[in-house]
Amino acid sequence: MKNLEALEKRRTFGIISHPDAGKTTLTEKLLLFGGAIQTAGAVKNNKIKKTATSDFMEIEKQRGISVATSVMAFEYGGKQINILDTPGHKDFAEDTYRTLTAVDSVILVIDCANGVEQQTEKLMEVCRMRNTPVIIFINKMDREGQDPFTLLDEIESKLNIKVCPLAWPIGMGDRFKGVYNIYRKNLNLFQANKTKIAKEIVSLDDIHSPELDEIVGHAPAEELRSELEMIEGVYNPFNRDTYLSGEYAPVFFGSAVNNFGVQELLDTFIEISPTPRSRETDLRTIEPTEDKFSGFVFKIHANLDPKHRDRIAFLRVVSGKFERNTFYNHVRLGKKFKFPNPTSFMAQDKSVIDEAFPGDVIGLYDTGTFKIGDTLNEGEKFMFKGIPSFSPELFQELENLDPLKSKQLEKGISQLTDEGVAQLFIQQPGNRKIIGTVGQLQFEVIAYRLQNEYGASCRFTPKNYFKACWLTTENEAELKKFLSTKAGNIAKDKDDNYVFLAETTFLLQMAEKDYPDITFHKTSEFKLTDRV
Ligand code: G4P
Repeated sequence: MKNLEALEKRRTFGIISHPDAGKTTLTEKLLLFGGAIQTAGAVKNNKIKKTATSDFMEIEKQRGISVATSVMAFEYGGKQINILDTPGHKDFAEDTYRTLTAVDSVILVIDCANGVEQQTEKLMEVCRMRNTPVIIFINKMDREGQDPFTLLDEIESKLNIKVCPLAWPIGMGDRFKGVYNIYRKNLNLFQANKTKIAKEIVSLDDIHSPELDEIVGHAPAEELRSELEMIEGVYNPFNRDTYLSGEYAPVFFGSAVNNFGVQELLDTFIEISPTPRSRETDLRTIEPTEDKFSGFVFKIHANLDPKHRDRIAFLRVVSGKFERNTFYNHVRLGKKFKFPNPTSFMAQDKSVIDEAFPGDVIGLYDTGTFKIGDTLNEGEKFMFKGIPSFSPELFQELENLDPLKSKQLEKGISQLTDEGVAQLFIQQPGNRKIIGTVGQLQFEVIAYRLQNEYGASCRFTPKNYFKACWLTTENEAELKKFLSTKAGNIAKDKDDNYVFLAETTFLLQMAEKDYPDITFHKTSEFKLTDRV
């Protein structure tokens, strides 16, 4: 029973946004309302400043911050809230995609002036792939922005999701009076306040009451009434199941920096958001209510101290109860491991835990046993799906500049790629190492970390590949022919799978046409299904 009670309490989610929309500010305010921190400004901005591409100390500092804020847990309204941090910088998008595999729902922050931006679109695509329930928070209402109806139209068309406003703003910018909460039928009056939690909520069951005119003025009151009428006509009323199935997204309005609309968001969030959900494996679906423990590693973080090469593997518990010092099965290695010091993260404090439940994220000290996507369980042979390596977008050849340090370089690059910093492809002849990433910044991080942590110096030479595709086929003869014809574009990934490095979309399409029996996979997810 205890497991079920713990499960009912858990709410594990991620906050996503285009950089600068207010993700860090909202996270901080949620922690403030949740009582996990006492003053605003306690959560450091977990983003690499645009000017810092060559400032390695900045990168190191950011890594430190991002370990501390990887998971922020706190109790609120009888629930245990786990916020999983996602890096804002686009070069770390793959890290964000993987973190999204470990959440049960998402809050998407949109800047009311900028509307839907490029990165928001990409992140929402990932959420839609998994039908992750999404709540939208339209931020910066204290500033002049787009008309709310236009914004909602833009969200529906660009993000390909229906919306359901649960609140509605009265004016914006200088004329911003507050927000009417459609869901709770009350009025939250705006006061600019950056540090304190101040609330002025007026219960207002009937929006036709003259009280509304007295509070916000006659013209804004009339405008609100007519807009609410339009909302009733245009949007479907809220239904929790429709939200939970990922079909539509409830929308809130507020101003995170002014603490405005945050508590309403949090209160509604804990009421409607999902408890830990089931997860697919290559064998069957694992329900969170199952007795036996299972979980998967979605992120690996290197220790910041180069003298201690150990790392922290972040494991999301999917089912059962994880217990300290208990042997669990590492499915990929077929070996058993126990963990004497698993950690949990309460806001910025780390502490050793004895047990963890579905929805929880724990840190496991790792000396190189884990890779991203690894499954731990009580013995059944299944691997969790949905944590693929995406096809990188940038490719460079890694050259060793110091032949005496080639062992260190091999070890370093192997560990860094296990962490998911980049992907490694080996090309013949000569075991040439092609590194694939989603952003330019990663090459700088790799070169810096190889030097700093492993004492190996390297140089990168750009390659003009645009995609890596994993190859599978039933037709061995066709594969053999393809491998010899395209020898210059063939490489192997770390697990010895063949990969085709295509130079252009055209060449990839030609290859797909000429070799119809070969499947060209854009992510490495297929490896899991082929494993058993
Ligand atoms: P991010 O994590 O999504 O990248 O955004 P972040 O929270 O860092 O916010 C980006 C900027 O937007 C910050 O200003 C922040 O203060 C501001 N901001 C957040 N919420 C609101 C809001 O509701 N209204 C207004 N007007 N501004 C908001 P900055 O100048 O970049 O940084 P700072 O010096 O204020 O920290």
